[in-house]
Amino acid sequence: MRAIILAGGTGSRLYPLTSIVCKQLQAVYDKPMIYYPLTVLVAGGIREFCIISTPDDLPRFERLLGNGSQWGLSFVYREQARPEGIAQAFLIAEDFIAGENCVLMLGDNIFFGGDAFPRALKDFKSGAMIFAYHVQNPGNYGVVSFDQFGRANSLEEKPTHPRSSYAVPGIYIYDSQVVGIAKSLNHSPRGELEVTDVNRVYLERDELLVRRLSRGVAWLDAGTSSALQDASAYVQTIERRQGVKIGCPEEAALVRGFLKLEQFDALLARMPACEYRDYLASVAAEVRRLAYATPKNF
Ligand code: G1P
Repeated sequence: MRAIILAGGTGSRLYPLTSIVCKQLQAVYDKPMIYYPLTVLVAGGIREFCIISTPDDLPRFERLLGNGSQWGLSFVYREQARPEGIAQAFLIAEDFIAGENCVLMLGDNIFFGGDAFPRALKDFKSGAMIFAYHVQNPGNYGVVSFDQFGRANSLEEKPTHPRSSYAVPGIYIYDSQVVGIAKSLNHSPRGELEVTDVNRVYLERDELLVRRLSRGVAWLDAGTSSALQDASAYVQTIERRQGVKIGCPEEAALVRGFLKLEQFDALLARMPACEYRDYLASVAAEVRRLAYATPKNF
């Protein structure tokens, strides 16, 4: 499956930080924000990406991520000239989607824990699959409600009076119908092509599957300065405690087998001496150790 990462928008709530560089390139503790969603997708087995951003920021993403070959991945880049909503991504990336299934992930969504996404990507056949996550402030998000049998029965974008406490996080899996659906949408009152409207079409066609994420999954918002700070503190706490990093695409690519150990070593040799390189070196050493113990796996 191919993935689109949408990293556009004005990031106005993070001004003045975003007057220099967009939200998805800001630091979340020790890495640029986009590393986190990217890692979730790589860990889920995805190798082909289309990254969408503003004309100003796109060259910055290209400088950071290149064509992806250094990680055994492939990145193409597309401009979102005017921010007209999340569903616009399907129009911009129509040629990239090329009539296949695809996953869309928002570049500011940070997840940690569990294996819900690799499983979902593996299980997905057709229609649409989205997720539901219990939050304290559902009105800030797309909200899904459920009937007494646990079936989704409504979807609303940032409702004033939410019908449930379940927000829809920014990771969505679709079949090829999505492009046609996006083309048929009207702009919402806030002038956007809403992803919630796409999901509602699938719901009406009875082709929408909503999976509830368990409490063990952390979904962090980084849309305001305080939320960004909280997300950084969360990542730092976990990384210090466990001695593992969250959101390391190189590690995910190695573990997934997209990168061979020799390529990984070459990658490290090109990095400056830093904590990030030390961490990756320790990952490589562990993979080598396991490789010697179980040679067939590598
Ligand atoms: C967008 C979507 C919303 C979704 C959220 C997840 O909101 O419109 O449905 O719940 O992403 O991050 P926005 O980023 O526009 O606030």
